[in-house]
Amino acid sequence: MLKILTIIGARPQIIKAAALSRAIRTDYADRINEIILHTGQHYDDNMSQVFFDEMGIPPPDYNLNVGSGSHGKQTAAMIRGIEEVIEKESPDYLVLYGDTNSTLAGAVAAVKLGIPVAHIEAGLRSFNKSMPEEINRITCDHCSTLLFSPTQAGLENLSREGFSANSTPPYNIDHPGVFHCGDVMYDNALFFSEIAEQQTGILKKLELTGKRFILSTIHRDNNTDIAERLNAIFSSILRIATDYGEAIVLPLHPRTLKMIDRHLDNTLLDGIRSSKNIIMIPPVSFLEMIMLEKHSSMIITDSGGVQKESYFYHKPCIILRPETEWVEIVENGTAVITDADRENILSAYQHFLKNPPASFPPLYGDGRAAWFVCETLLST
Ligand code: UD1
Ligand code: UDP
Repeated sequence: MLKILTIIGARPQIIKAAALSRAIRTDYADRINEIILHTGQHYDDNMSQVFFDEMGIPPPDYNLNVGSGSHGKQTAAMIRGIEEVIEKESPDYLVLYGDTNSTLAGAVAAVKLGIPVAHIEAGLRSFNKSMPEEINRITCDHCSTLLFSPTQAGLENLSREGFSANSTPPYNIDHPGVFHCGDVMYDNALFFSEIAEQQTGILKKLELTGKRFILSTIHRDNNTDIAERLNAIFSSILRIATDYGEAIVLPLHPRTLKMIDRHLDNTLLDGIRSSKNIIMIPPVSFLEMIMLEKHSSMIITDSGGVQKESYFYHKPCIILRPETEWVEIVENGTAVITDADRENILSAYQHFLKNPPASFPPLYGDGRAAWFVCETLLST
């Protein structure tokens, strides 16, 4: 029996991990024993527990309850806790997702103890090292023995950094295996799409059934923590809501909720809060999010996951960042990078109003990426 220790902590990782847990439960329960460690990076019910309840993820075997803090304090507490669990469990692989501080902590703890790391979502690069996530993902990739890239661009990034997609087993950290296997989030998008239609009443609750609306999420630190950028984003949202009469649903990350009070100009904040068209709500569940994405007319976001889901559900996407790791959706013309620039955001909005994208060729695999990961873990 192969023993894997999965590290999760932030919302998108919990959601990604659901795909692998589902594949294990369905087809590999007799061959893979998954132990789950939650670092506690995200801890509000609507940022964590809701996904376990809704997506059938087994409860974590360990929770470090690390909570929020500076990068150093948070990551250090995680490394310490993960190290103890690795020593106790002696897993065959540590499985890591994405690029958060929980990912970084897992990579550092495992590599120092000589435990092989499998990195799901390897190879993504923004080429912007001022992003904490860029440092986390580069470090994690270079600590990994198995690298699972969701995209062709990811594979190419890895080969530019000296990884070989042609290496053969047995793999180790100095001779890693690199795979282009599709995206576990596409697995989830396919699996939960119909379930979301059947099980959630979010559209009715928000009185949006049959109505046109835009979905927006904002949480990146360089958008929430820099007043000028946050004001530019919210002022364009207010403009779209008032001048174009668009309803805009904003499930707000707790970080953003805190920062709009601190950073938005008073008149803008009053305008946002009093606009009937701007629907600010707490974070929603994954099934609710899928419903909002599927039934929206456009998506405006700085989230990595939501950018891709815009593509999965065939929606135009405005990316509130200076660059993206998901370059293929921009190349395909279905997403536009505007950064936090008011004029760029408004012109991208007008562009998509006039030219709604029609073609979304498959880019993220066949919905079986998690099965590919399981097969690879078992065969290497
Ligand atoms: C983290 C990841 C980011 C990812 C995002 C997903 C890092 C460096 N960043 O950013 O890559 O896109 O998660 O959502 O790992 N908070 C709460 N309740 C919670 C969690 C957070 O109130 O359950 C608030 C706290 O004020 C906290 C702030 O949000 O200080 C930021 O949380 P943190 O986990 O440090 O970073 P995120 O911005 O969530
Ligand atoms: N998500 C969710 N509820 C929300 C906002 C996002 O379930 O209120 C989901 C979203 O569908 C996607 C994931 O969270 O699958 C993305 O996470 P997030 O935007 O927090 O982080 P990122 O992907 O940018 O790292």
